[in-house]
Amino acid sequence: MTSDTQLHELLRGADWPPEDVRRADRCVPVDEAPLGSGITLFVVSVVGGPAHGGLLLVPARADGSGRLVDAQGSEGFDLACVRLMAAGGRIPTARGGHVDFRGTAGARAVSPLPFAQGRSSNSLSLLDIDGRPHLHKTYRSLGAEVREPELLRLMDGSAHTPRWFGDYGYVPPGGTERLALGVVYAYTPGSGIDTPLRANLRALWPGLTGGPGGVRESAPSGGACGPARLDGLVREHLAPLATPLRTARSFLGGFHEELRVRLGRGTPPPDYPVERALRAAEERCHALAERAGREAGLPAAALDSAFDSLTREIALLRTAFDAAGTHPAGPCHGDLHLSHLLWDPPRLIDISTPSTGPDVPGWAEQSPLQDLVALGRALEYFAADEAAYESARLLGVDSTETMLASLDGGAGLPPRERSVLLLVFEAADTWRRHVAGLLLAPAGSDGDRAGPGPDASDEPLRRLLYLRRLLHELDYNFAHARPYHAAIDLRHAMALGLPSPLARTLTART
Ligand SMILES: Nc1ncnc2c1ncn2[C@@H]1O[C@H](COP(=O)(O)OP(=O)(O)OP(=O)(O)O)[C@@H](O)[C@H]1O
Ligand SMILES: [Mg+2]
Repeated sequence: MTSDTQLHELLRGADWPPEDVRRADRCVPVDEAPLGSGITLFVVSVVGGPAHGGLLLVPARADGSGRLVDAQGSEGFDLACVRLMAAGGRIPTARGGHVDFRGTAGARAVSPLPFAQGRSSNSLSLLDIDGRPHLHKTYRSLGAEVREPELLRLMDGSAHTPRWFGDYGYVPPGGTERLALGVVYAYTPGSGIDTPLRANLRALWPGLTGGPGGVRESAPSGGACGPARLDGLVREHLAPLATPLRTARSFLGGFHEELRVRLGRGTPPPDYPVERALRAAEERCHALAERAGREAGLPAAALDSAFDSLTREIALLRTAFDAAGTHPAGPCHGDLHLSHLLWDPPRLIDISTPSTGPDVPGWAEQSPLQDLVALGRALEYFAADEAAYESARLLGVDSTETMLASLDGGAGLPPRERSVLLLVFEAADTWRRHVAGLLLAPAGSDGDRAGPGPDASDEPLRRLLYLRRLLHELDYNFAHARPYHAAIDLRHAMALGLPSPLARTLTART
């Protein structure tokens, strides 16, 4: 087996290991398999530090001088994997496990294509396979939580996810589990739905503020820019996106139905464990409230107000669940960001469904509403971020300053600055509500109203899932010292704790 030192050197020089792996004492190869073409697949165990016990995949080859170099994303590695997937079969590992390949037969001609991989945690490369572009995605960290290849296989041909070409996994010595290593699936041209949304919101500013550098004199909550006019302006401005957003919404509904049928295999949906989830949310909320006082950079009044609202929301939910019946669970995407929803044509990428079947743990604790909530929260971050940036540009200040000022409606700002801030944030909030109305309203409803207009029977579960997600994100933003993002969480937490549907009518505070 190649020495630990060589792999250690390779990993030390690599730019991809996450922070927790970088803090390990060492990384030890625990198994390896030859893939041909001089490439060896190493399974490496992390020793010490926060990622202790984790497994990494490191494909490597020796360079001209015999030094071990990373083969991930290299032509040799990509071609070897595609050939092995197309042929099927297994390669025994040094320790008595094996690497299992499966895929679509054929693949006569394979060649690399240029691909500008954006920010992502895994390695992706683009390949031409028999005249069609495909992506080869390789997972750096191994674990049962990597379900994407299996999900793409189960959903293959549904037209909701990219076509599955093949995948490969590691079966440890004596083991029965198959840890996903990589997948090849069709490349889908087009972009995430964040692209047209960003262009649309940015094109709203000049009409609102009277040109690239200026601001209309009128205050946002009266006169020419009052709420009714703003509402009309935003609706008209969003008109070109109304059809694509509604199409994306019904596409998402079709995806959920397809998941339910393919993964559920005809079993009735279990009940979502609302009581357990609500209790967990309550505990998390208490723990966060304890920590909140120590969160430097966030105004105490905003923290107090947000936690009061969160506490009221939990009490409201408890009453709502006591009165309501059960709530069916169902599989969902699980990691839905705006960029994972491709829109032209619609496709869903990076699926991370929490549980892949009725006999797999976690089947009951997932819901399609989770995806709608995730998109709703993504829109909240998106709109607040754009508003903070635009108002900062207009006022000539830093966007952290405008984001924090949005928490109290710019109370500490001089009148002119305050009116700019309010106008921009109010416009962004109005825009976001209209987008949510089109993208998140129940399929078949008139989605052109401001607000998602949820189905009444879904309402308590949707609110619980929203609360869970917001607390999760607030926890993350506290833990990673991100006051700018935590401010967005607080803004929206403050809108909670009101009887429905008022909870969703957040505007910049006046
Ligand atoms: N089938 C596809 N067609 C077109 N582009 C794709 C496809 N799959 C992925 N991409 C592009 O590659 C990017 C990264 O893909 P993906 O989100 O699946 O990677 P990831 O490593 O899981 O990312 P993350 O760290 O966000 O979880 C996507 O945002 C998208 O731009
Ligand atoms: Mg991912």
